[in-house]
Amino acid sequence: MSDRAGNIAASPEWSALIDHHAEIRGRHLRDLFSADPGRVARMTSEVADLVVDWSKHRADRRTVDLLLALADRAGVGAAIGSLFAGEHVNTTEDRAAMHMALRAPRRAEIHVDGHEVVAEVREVLDRAGSFAEAVRSGAWTGVTGRRIRTVVNIGIGGSDLGPVMAYEALRAYRHDRVACRFVSNIDGSDLTAALHGLDPAETLFVVSSKTFTTAETLTNAASARRWLVGGLGDESAVASHFVAISTNAAAVEAFGIDTANMFGFWDWVGGRYSMDSAIGLTLMIAIGPAHFADMLAGFRAVDVHVESEPAASNVAVLLGLLGVWYRNFFGWSTHAVLPYARDLHRFPAYLQQLDMESNGKSTRHDGSPVSTDTGPIVWGEPGTNGQHAFFQLLHQGTTVVPADFIGFLEPLDEHAAAEGDHHDMLMANCFAQTEALAFGRRPDELRADGVDERLVPHRSFDGNRPTTTILAPKLTPSTLGQLVALYEHRVFVQGTVWDINSFDQWGVELGKALATRILAELTAPEMGRSDHDASTTALLRRYRTSRGRI
Ligand code: F6P
Repeated sequence: MSDRAGNIAASPEWSALIDHHAEIRGRHLRDLFSADPGRVARMTSEVADLVVDWSKHRADRRTVDLLLALADRAGVGAAIGSLFAGEHVNTTEDRAAMHMALRAPRRAEIHVDGHEVVAEVREVLDRAGSFAEAVRSGAWTGVTGRRIRTVVNIGIGGSDLGPVMAYEALRAYRHDRVACRFVSNIDGSDLTAALHGLDPAETLFVVSSKTFTTAETLTNAASARRWLVGGLGDESAVASHFVAISTNAAAVEAFGIDTANMFGFWDWVGGRYSMDSAIGLTLMIAIGPAHFADMLAGFRAVDVHVESEPAASNVAVLLGLLGVWYRNFFGWSTHAVLPYARDLHRFPAYLQQLDMESNGKSTRHDGSPVSTDTGPIVWGEPGTNGQHAFFQLLHQGTTVVPADFIGFLEPLDEHAAAEGDHHDMLMANCFAQTEALAFGRRPDELRADGVDERLVPHRSFDGNRPTTTILAPKLTPSTLGQLVALYEHRVFVQGTVWDINSFDQWGVELGKALATRILAELTAPEMGRSDHDASTTALLRRYRTSRGRI
């Protein structure tokens, strides 16, 4: 591991940014633009096929210089080096975070703990690819010999959000004879809804769980197995209707899935960084191994940029630093992600886990409390729907929400392509929103337009609200991979500045342990003495009473 920077908030670079913030916070984006004609060219970056316009940010040349000095002080360059070298950047679990090996080219050699991993990665991907092709072609059949028409992915968190996000995003690339459904929630309605109308003889379950101990996934998988065996009247049907993706072969076997039908991965792949491992099997069945490979190549293109580009032109570093600028110096606590593409409707949910589970931390690497705020609340919805829901607050609310707008130059949709107007309207809205957020509408402009004086204060927009615009040629497997990798690395850059471990998730443990204990108390024949607080005890009693257990 690289040397840590100490308390970043006590560094001269941090103090310089505090002073600079005091100077720049009163400046309007209008002034920043008019004072600097070269701004857009200088503050537009390209990474792989993505064009990233970060000119509509509350930053000037000096801001960028000071943020880069902060990155230097925090050891961002060295940390990226450590990440890519397979060092144990996940300090609390004493592991590497080598998701980049999942998309490395076949000829690459990457060592984790002295062991070359690319050959193993490729071996699993090839096996997954052959399996996906067999399902797609109908060569893999259910126990009755009928082809598989629906794949049900059972998993949660990183074993669900990436595959379902990409399945939705890559709608245009899906196989037309094999549909996929996704079950994650322990709420039985999720499984019921997913199984609705399915024929067990034509259904394949992909049980995805890194640990194979996650209660939701194992419970849903057990219920799915009952449904299958009940429907087919044949216990041996499990062998041809269930496959597993996990790092835990013993637990897969104990569940009753033949490990010949298991696809593995490794402890150096974090759950939320696993969509391009075998965890992507359902997606691979949907879009085919060739498109899956295109997606990996997209991830890889951004990895190459992040690993090799100096900080000043490294897009993941720049975007990460701008996030730090707003989170820590302006004190803004949320970040919106607004894809202008309906098919990216699960992208904000995916990023919530990626960012909030990675950087929602209060403890530094050395165990001391953080001295700064850390990860923001990430949220969002596709445009234009969001415009008719929460954009009012983005424009005129009392809190500022820095936002990413993601758009595509070419449409996928047949209506847009044929008629022209859908996509033009979509993108017109995307551009209009970033312009309105940045530049607003002044009272004098309203008056010049003859707006009734009484309404002038209501119809004024301050503007000065920062956005990044990311444009890609088209929503393809490759550009999707590029987008995800860019966010992955941005998260790591921020975690490095805050000196937190972006790869563990201890904060989810307490709730899991309490739920296990409360489940036993909810279902016990008698309610014993409660050690819970008064509120929780009353809730348990009320539930038990309603279920006739008191
Ligand atoms: O509880 C959080 C978490 O551990 C996530 O980090 C992970 O993606 C998810 O649960 C699912 O875990 P698994 O793949 O082991 O079932």
